Amino acid sequence: MSGRERDSEKWWKTGVVYQIYPMSFMDGNGDGVGDLKGIVSKLDYLNDGTGTSLGIDAIWLSPIYPSPNKDFGYDISDYRGIDPRYGSLEDFKTLLREAHDRNIRIVMDLVINHTSNEHPWFIEACKGRENPYHDWYMWHEGKKGKAPNNWFAAFDRKAWWWVEDVRKFYLSTWCRYQPEVNWRNPELKQAMFDMMRFWLDLGVDGYRIDVINWFIKDDRFRSNPYRLSLNPPDYQRHIYDRNRPEIHDLCREIRGVVDAYPGRFALGEVFTDSAEEAASYYGDGDELHMAFNFEFLFQKWGASNFLGVIDKWDGLLGDKGWPTYTLSNHDLPGRHYSRYAKGDETDKRARVAAAMLLTLRGTPFLYYGEEIGMSNRKIPRKTIQDPMGKKFWPILKGRDPGRTPMQWNASSHAGFSTTEPWLPVHPNHTVVNAEKEAGDPGSILSFYREMIWLRKKTPALCQGSYRPLVSGRTDYLAYLRSNPEQTVLVLLNFVGKPVPALLSGHQTEVSRGNWEVLFGTDRAKGNRMELSSGLSLRGYEVLILEEKGGSA
Ligand code: GLC
Repeated sequence: MSGRERDSEKWWKTGVVYQIYPMSFMDGNGDGVGDLKGIVSKLDYLNDGTGTSLGIDAIWLSPIYPSPNKDFGYDISDYRGIDPRYGSLEDFKTLLREAHDRNIRIVMDLVINHTSNEHPWFIEACKGRENPYHDWYMWHEGKKGKAPNNWFAAFDRKAWWWVEDVRKFYLSTWCRYQPEVNWRNPELKQAMFDMMRFWLDLGVDGYRIDVINWFIKDDRFRSNPYRLSLNPPDYQRHIYDRNRPEIHDLCREIRGVVDAYPGRFALGEVFTDSAEEAASYYGDGDELHMAFNFEFLFQKWGASNFLGVIDKWDGLLGDKGWPTYTLSNHDLPGRHYSRYAKGDETDKRARVAAAMLLTLRGTPFLYYGEEIGMSNRKIPRKTIQDPMGKKFWPILKGRDPGRTPMQWNASSHAGFSTTEPWLPVHPNHTVVNAEKEAGDPGSILSFYREMIWLRKKTPALCQGSYRPLVSGRTDYLAYLRSNPEQTVLVLLNFVGKPVPALLSGHQTEVSRGNWEVLFGTDRAKGNRMELSSGLSLRGYEVLILEEKGGSA
């Protein structure tokens, strides 16, 4: 990648980001676990510069640092290394170089709310109250021998763990092996910032920052109020252990660290289903460059449901922040292909969802395997690996079903490995796999490719404004994406039957000129259409039109 391209400031506004769960993408050394060499071997699949590859612009790597793997890399024991199961620092540099040669950026996961309990900082911190590292973590003496408050942990329930040597409890709101750091300690903060610079100096292109809204805890350690919820982790209103006001000063400092390196970004995982909370992490355009809005991926299938979230998110951010959209990641108990499944309509739904993701105003984040239509794989309870599904919250089955190995081909381990993989491959890999789909123009992989490459060459889809043409209850989405040179109309039918579209209220917007089909599941590319009396969308139709002058 040339210097100019690397520094093109806002590449992340136009690019498509692809999340790789490193253990599951490609095993390069035959030990059943994915690794960096494996990823390098698949870069051409991701983007070789031509439309026969997927065409993504950046890879977000879930953590690859050394880790005891109690939470699969989200418990880091050395921030400046690479876990040997993935390779070496040299392998990482090779990945960076090879990716950049293909114009693919590399985004690292930054897990700095907590470390592993095996991190040398924590080992030191436990040695004594006077130890210089002691205050790098969150401690409390407790009350009458008990935990100081009612905060609880996402995986372990219990959040406070006693350490006899210092006669204090440490805090961990994930699992006991993930002690939380003290962001109010200036040395800790500097150590984290220096570590961020270490990777930025090596050339990484951005950070996805893990659970940013959990970093700062109430300085008086007040208990959270309880509330009723069907989801155990929501039994409390997390007003004292998450989303504290001081986090926003910290976000501005983090932004400063990243902005010293042109063209890089900081994206926050705001672990909440509140779009308002997520939007607050953009500050006045001076905090994070982007944040995830999980309200979007918690939606049930239906055009109105998505429309509500899109309008809200776009409205909340306005001009001050750039939206993000994603439908699957490594944390959801399932992939969206399964979440939105409906018999033999499932594949069509997945295409409508992909078309939405790739044509909205905002950066799309794809999760490995969604482009080939991977679905959840049932994991027998005894073989569950994820701490969330093990014993702590028995009603939650864990996140393994959406983390199974990438399905490269129909061979016995799906082409992922030469040996038994760490999680079983989905039995449907004999039909759902990249090799087979690559040669089939009607496959979902071909659909994703076509959409991604169309997006790339259509400026209005990358950076144009968003203007919905439907509101309230609707079976279809219709929105305009426009920039000064171009207007594109996206129509997506979310139901399996024909739907009359654009019948009223939009004559001025759509009847001006005539429209040319840029992409259509049911209409030929290049066809001209005239929309003054609306149109009838076929079941699950995806139609993308560009406004042209003159009459049809
Ligand atoms: C984030 C990660 C998740 C992890 C948790 C604790 O939510 O995405 O995988 O378990 O943080 O680090």
